Amino acid sequence: MRIGVLTSGGDCPGLNAVIRSVVHRGTDVHGDEIVGIEDGFLGLIEGRARPVSHDDVTGLLTLGGTILGSARVQRERIAWAVENAKTLARDIGIDALIAIGGEGTLTAARRFSEAGLPVVGVPKTIDNDIDATDVTFGFDTAVHVATEAIDRLKTTAESHQRVMVVELMGRHTGWITLTAGMAGGAHGILIPEKPFDIEGVARMVEDRFTRGKKFAIIAVAEGASPMPGTMRFDHGEVDRFGHRTFGGIGNRLAHELEDLLGKEARPVILGHVQRGGTPTARDRVLASRFGWHAVEAVHQGAFGHFTALRGNDIRLVPIADAVTRLKTVPEERWAESEAVL
Ligand code: F6P
Repeated sequence: MRIGVLTSGGDCPGLNAVIRSVVHRGTDVHGDEIVGIEDGFLGLIEGRARPVSHDDVTGLLTLGGTILGSARVQRERIAWAVENAKTLARDIGIDALIAIGGEGTLTAARRFSEAGLPVVGVPKTIDNDIDATDVTFGFDTAVHVATEAIDRLKTTAESHQRVMVVELMGRHTGWITLTAGMAGGAHGILIPEKPFDIEGVARMVEDRFTRGKKFAIIAVAEGASPMPGTMRFDHGEVDRFGHRTFGGIGNRLAHELEDLLGKEARPVILGHVQRGGTPTARDRVLASRFGWHAVEAVHQGAFGHFTALRGNDIRLVPIADAVTRLKTVPEERWAESEAVL
């Protein structure tokens, strides 16, 4: 078979490990030809694709980013591509497609599958907000990077008796902030699922200093918001891909805390550092397993499905289950994080 593979949406550590695994399983075991489509669905639309051989994937297990490139594509162009799915597939000569991406990519993958281009999805995102899989690859790496940042901020915060506000990725969900916040022992964890009360945060910091502690670390997700009627803050505009842009809560929070407490506060925006570099061992293994199962899914004809981690096993689950709702931090997980504050 000729199997196309593409990576779409924001990149994340482990994408290359999936590509490598698809090539190994597809070529070595099934005699497939793997066609790498450049820059996600943009490459499919523009007919930019190239064969990917065993040699091309040497060394990819540990390499961050994606050798195929990735891009976000406007909704109208995706709609056009779905209408022309069969022609586009014929033009680049593929019988089936493995689409590796987040919620937007999986939604598109489902539509392509329904339109006659057989697609298997592989979920990725550092945000870990895709439903129907226990975890996505990239998340563990992002949590490690964020945890290390918190660890490092502690020593400088203590030296200067400061409040450090570290803003982490997570537009709609607080998985990275909750997990790295717990692992790094942050004193405040603010996530989109739980609007925060700035007075409460300030009181918690004040209490710490009163008890003789010399610093405080607040981990805040980029999508976190204040409770209505408290601190005024508006998140950004909607960009040309239809995504609301986030950013600014870390800066705003640090300034507000400085005003309220009369203590020095510094914002640290970790940003894309969380998405770069080599994947952790856990992400390398999960990504490789997803690639292996995606190829098997193609050969079983399990189109319109995606690879999901359930417990220790990889299952094939209808893509519809992944895109119906976002996987947010449940109340019980939040309660556990409060216990360590
Ligand atoms: O969805 C993954 C993600 O990394 C978010 O956490 C973040 O808000 C967004 O992508 C950043 O997107 P971009 O790379 O387009 O700035």
